[in-house]
Amino acid sequence: MLETSKTGDAQLDLGDRKIALPMYVGTEGERAIDIRKLRAETGFITYDPGYVNSGACESSITFLDGEKGILRYRGYEIQDLAEHCEFIEVAYLLIHGKLPTKTERQRYAKLLNVNSMLHEDMQAFFRNYPERSHPMAVASAMAVSLSSFYPELEDAEEEKSIAATRLISKLRTMAAFCYKKSVGEPFIYPSSKMTYCENLLNMMFASPVADYKVDPVLVKAMNQLLILHADHEQNASTSVVRMVGSTGANLYASVAAGICALWGPLHGGANQEVMQMLETIHRSGGDVDKMIARAKDPNDDFRLFGFGHRVYKTYDPRAKVAKQVCTEVLKKLGVNDPLLDIAMKLEEHALQDEYFVKRKLYPNVDFYTGITYRAMGFPTDMFTVLFAIGRLPGWISQWYELHNDPTQKINRPRQVYVGPTARALTPIEQR
Ligand code: SDX
Repeated sequence: MLETSKTGDAQLDLGDRKIALPMYVGTEGERAIDIRKLRAETGFITYDPGYVNSGACESSITFLDGEKGILRYRGYEIQDLAEHCEFIEVAYLLIHGKLPTKTERQRYAKLLNVNSMLHEDMQAFFRNYPERSHPMAVASAMAVSLSSFYPELEDAEEEKSIAATRLISKLRTMAAFCYKKSVGEPFIYPSSKMTYCENLLNMMFASPVADYKVDPVLVKAMNQLLILHADHEQNASTSVVRMVGSTGANLYASVAAGICALWGPLHGGANQEVMQMLETIHRSGGDVDKMIARAKDPNDDFRLFGFGHRVYKTYDPRAKVAKQVCTEVLKKLGVNDPLLDIAMKLEEHALQDEYFVKRKLYPNVDFYTGITYRAMGFPTDMFTVLFAIGRLPGWISQWYELHNDPTQKINRPRQVYVGPTARALTPIEQR
């Protein structure tokens, strides 16, 4: 508990009174002032639009250092996990707090496979969804619908565990079915003989009339990209999953809300926006400086997608790995995508530009991933669904942590009211 790491009291001088507020320090040296008694004892609240300086919880899942570009899941460096693990091992690590043994990994893989099918009645959803539905809309609807197809178990702990496994396995199947529906091809069912990422690629790209073979190069890249997205402490969509979970809503509903939050172009939806931005530059002859000028123009609300971050004020460590995966995959596939050259030129020009340097704006996780996904055959509107599949174990582990934290209660921020003061109502005849 954070209270055990108290380092002293901060003295807040309000003019007519002073209040001592406990100060804590986390295991990585992050410091916090505990304001839980502030309003009760002083009548004041703090004011922090966008929660830029506010900690909502203590957590032992993911550590970020935005100044040094460090990202660790349960103490393991993201670079090591991406290089040496499969996605399901990292999912297990985030949810259970430790990397699985060989036996635990085999048991988990089997559990995921057993839960990879969708209820046959769910196929009606896909068949009746409008043709051009965005996959994130379908994914969110399907996620919350799992609570209708799989009634809650009496045993709350067992329910949490099986719901987590269902979501991790079935969201991947839903994504593939969503894509097959969009291209008018028959659904490809998951196979118990395939690994998690082999199944994802096979369900997406196999077809009864094509001799599709899952490429191990793409399987490795898929594992790495899902690992890069697996958790990221209290980002917007994770905070939404926690907030919905704090009301007592079930895990499916909480994750469905998280999928909707991730969809936004400032968040997970940025990976789709990056591709559209790069394609615009390509169509206009590759002039990256025009796009950079727009991003800098205070009168233009355009932003360079895939650049900047609330926490990272240096190169996002995930973007470094994603860039390496991108160049490797394109080279191994023999793909020569002009968008990669444009992306690298855009990065080079932006990182030399005073506007970006002064604001510490660097490529984030979304900048290179889309080019790899495209080379792998995924359509652009599937990119954010792939982000959601990766982020799922992070959302689930954070949701569990919330429910195991005795200090947590229903999330309900305060406000400073600036609207009209009390006034008499005049009947409509006199208005
Ligand atoms: C993700 O939080 C997480 O951890 C998220 C995430 C995760 O794994 O969950 O990492 C995933 O969402 C990555 C970010 C993806 N989004 C984008 O790539 C969209 C483009 N980026 C920006 O919209 C922006 O950088 C944000 C939203 C990511 C962060 O915005 P902040 O922290 O609110 O920063 P800000 O708006 O206060 O910007 C500070 C300054 C402003 O200029 P001034 O007012 O000082 O003149 O930097 C400028 C901004 O205009 N700025 C940009 C910019 N990002 C910030 N200017 C141009 N292009 C950009 N991309």
